[in-house]
Formats: sequence, C-alpha cells, structure tokens
Amino acid sequence: MGSRAAGINSGARLARSMCRCQSRPPMLPDTPTPRRFMPSGPLRGRIRVPGDKSISHRALMFSALAVGRSQISGLLEGEDVLATAAALRQVGVTIGRDGEDWIVDGVGVGGFLQPQGALEMGNSGTSTRLLMGLVASQGIAAVFTGDASLSRRPMNRVIEPLAQMGARFEPSAGGTLPLLLEGIEPAVPITYRLPVASAQVKSALLLAGLNTPGVTTVIEPVPTRDHTERMLAGFGAQLTVEETNGERVIRITGQPELKPQEIEVPGDPSSAAFFAVAASLVPGSDLVIENVGLNPTRSGIFTVLRQMGATIEELDPREVGGEAVADLHVRHAPLTGVEVDPALAPSMIDEFPVLFVAAALAHGRTVTSGLDELRVKESDRLAAMATALSGVGARVEEREDGLVIGGTGGEPLAGGGPIATHLDHRIAMSMAVAGLASRDGVEVDDTRPIGTSFPTFERLVGECEQ
Ligand code: S3P
Repeated sequence: MGSRAAGINSGARLARSMCRCQSRPPMLPDTPTPRRFMPSGPLRGRIRVPGDKSISHRALMFSALAVGRSQISGLLEGEDVLATAAALRQVGVTIGRDGEDWIVDGVGVGGFLQPQGALEMGNSGTSTRLLMGLVASQGIAAVFTGDASLSRRPMNRVIEPLAQMGARFEPSAGGTLPLLLEGIEPAVPITYRLPVASAQVKSALLLAGLNTPGVTTVIEPVPTRDHTERMLAGFGAQLTVEETNGERVIRITGQPELKPQEIEVPGDPSSAAFFAVAASLVPGSDLVIENVGLNPTRSGIFTVLRQMGATIEELDPREVGGEAVADLHVRHAPLTGVEVDPALAPSMIDEFPVLFVAAALAHGRTVTSGLDELRVKESDRLAAMATALSGVGARVEEREDGLVIGGTGGEPLAGGGPIATHLDHRIAMSMAVAGLASRDGVEVDDTRPIGTSFPTFERLVGECEQ
C-alpha cells in the first residue's frame, strides 16, 4: 500500500512536471467568454453540422495504425479531435492536410514511438480512454493530462482491465488524470464483461487487443455505439461480433496489418440534436439539417423526440462511410412529456441535456431514470442541468439517476443566468437552445467549451435565425 501510494504520488508529480515543459499554446481564450442567447425567431433554411466526434477520433486513430496513407473527409475540427491528432503526432504519426481533407501516414499496429512529453488531452474523455488502450499494449510509456473537467473523470474503468492485460498505471488519487501509463509488449489477451455501458471502455480494450497476440474478447451486456467495430472491420481487422442471450460478444484477433482507407465522416447526430430541439420548440421553425449520422446506437434522441410529438422527417436516407445517414427535416410542433425508456439511454447518452430542455417546454411531465453515467461526463450533467433549468424558470426535480421535469406546456421559459456550464460543451449548447426558446434570453457563463465538439454552433444559430 505504502509503495503504491508513493507510486501514485510520483506519477502525478511526473505528470505535472512534464505538463510544464511541454504545454502547447492554449487554443482557446484564457478567460471565460459569456454570452446571452436571446429569444429567436423561427429557425429556417438548411444547415450542415460538423463531422461526428466519435467517428472522427476513430478515423484518426485507426488510420494511424494502418500501413500507408489514409485520407479523411468531413473530420470534426473541434478541440477534442485536435487533441487526438496532437497526441498521435507525439507518438510518431504524420498527420497533414490536403485542402479540406486530412491525410494520415500510418505507422502500423504496434508502431508508436515513445512520446517526448505529456499527452495533453484537454477536455476529451474519448481521446484519453481510447489512446490509453492503444498505449497499453505497446512498449512505451505515456503521461496523460487533461483540463479541470477531465481530471475529475473516472479512469479506473479502463485502468482495471488494461492492468489485467499487463499494463502498469500510476494515476492520481481516485484513479484520475494526470496519470502515467507504462505499456507492455506483448500484452496478455483477456475476456472482459463490461461492468458499465461504455463505448469508450469497450473501444480501449479492443484497441489494446489489436497489438496483443491471440484473441481479446469484450462482452457487452448493454449495446453501446459500435463505430469502433464497424470501422476496424473496414480497415481489415479480424473482428467478430456475436449476439448471445442479448449480450454482444466482440472478439478481436491481435496483430493484423490494417489497410489504409478513404473515410467520409458523417455529420454528428449529437450536434444535430441541438438544432432538432431548437426547431421543435421555436414556433414557425422549418429547418433541414443535412447529412446527419443515424446509426441506431446513436439515434435514440430522435426516437424520443418523436415520441414527444416532434415532427422530424428523414429525407434521402443513404450510407456514408459505412454509417446510415439522412437529412433531417424538422418543423415546430407542440411536445408532450414522456417517460423515457432507460434502455434507450446508451443510444442518446450525450443528448439528455438538450432533451431536458425540450421537456422543460413540453406539455406535462417527463421522467428519466437509469442515468447514473451522466454524473461522470464532462460535468455532473444531472446536477448541472437541474440547476441550470431551475435557474431559468423550469420545474425540475433531481433524482439520483435522472430528472423529472414539469413542462411549461409550450410557454417560453422566463430566462436568466448566468448559467454555470462547468467546462461542459453540452451544457453550454443546451442552455443556448433554452435561450432561443425563452422570454428574456439565457446567459451562459462560458461559450469556449463549445469548441470541443461544435465550433460552428454559434455561427449556425445566427444563420438559421434569419
Ligand atoms: C463516446 C462514448 C460515450 C460518449 C462520449 C463519446 C465514444 O462515452 O458519452 O461522448 O466516442 O466512444 P462512454 O463510453 O463513457 O459512455
């Protein structure tokens, strides 16, 4: 215990000292950027949301592991994805641009070099957990650091299985960043049943399994987003998915040669959700959101909005980059509260903040449950949204695993603020949507975090308000 504690402290100390000497210039302004989102006229026209964040991270990472040059179009150029790109460069991957496209010269599975400084993950849990998986089965060590929000988030969920594979960790107290990870080569393949429904944990293990001899098996009792499985198979990985007794059993055979790809990243349904809710709430709205990814493991928000009475039509359904895509035609419609099936939670886990805004203006009560995971996202999203919505005039009861919201019946929320966004992009954008549907506007205390996932959000709000 004594030596472990000493190890933890030395890991944190090392991480802090590496942070100091390797810090990248900050890309965001140093001070919070508050903004009041005023009531909006009808949202109209056609907009295109940026590339899917989950798919963008994976496109960069898997291209980095292929042998040869991959080309990615539609990549999300948000801070989170840029953090992944920066970390990949630090382990020896060449990443460049060709016009709008991104070009990645892969180093092959297991080909990472020892990074010279800490890998700075900013706000991005996906970058952190997936890269931890990749480093864990290679003979290199890396220090992972993050901002105040990421440094509070639990990493034991990946540390525990990756340690079973042989990697060694020196995390900060409570299994958080900064942490030191010493990978091991060869790692030991394991069979692991996910104790939390987490695509990040699943992906971290599959990625560790990529450079591990033999077969690594992940059992998923509750299905989560499957972009890793789809895209890895597209790169030529030996991966099988079997459904037994309602569980997904995913097996990956280690040390394949991945073939470079041309990847087209579809628009992010999580970003589209803000505009789908805004257009549903603001009277007179008639908006088309183009090129939205509708993978069933991601599209729960549109199912629930339709249950509430939203008018969301899918135009021109097609496939982009192996993912279902359509243009969404959203028109204003009165919404009614629902009891949200907790089984839908994994397919809309990032969309609850904006669903709560929709519920706050619906007729009747919306009840959500089974949402413990929301407490460990970029912020505690149940607490943050309960406080934020109450502060602008909504009726909210916070329960341990969900919110119960009594809607206004279509009347605008009073408005107010400043709303504490806790470095959480989705709280900032959700409350911006609340502002569009309010009487006096809603002030959010800091719009900077929006740049992590949706840098064009504010511009698009302006464009479709005209
Ligand atoms: C993500 C998985 C989800 C989600 C996150 C992105 C991914 O996290 O909340 O925004 O790309 O794998 P969990 O795996 O923690 O549920």
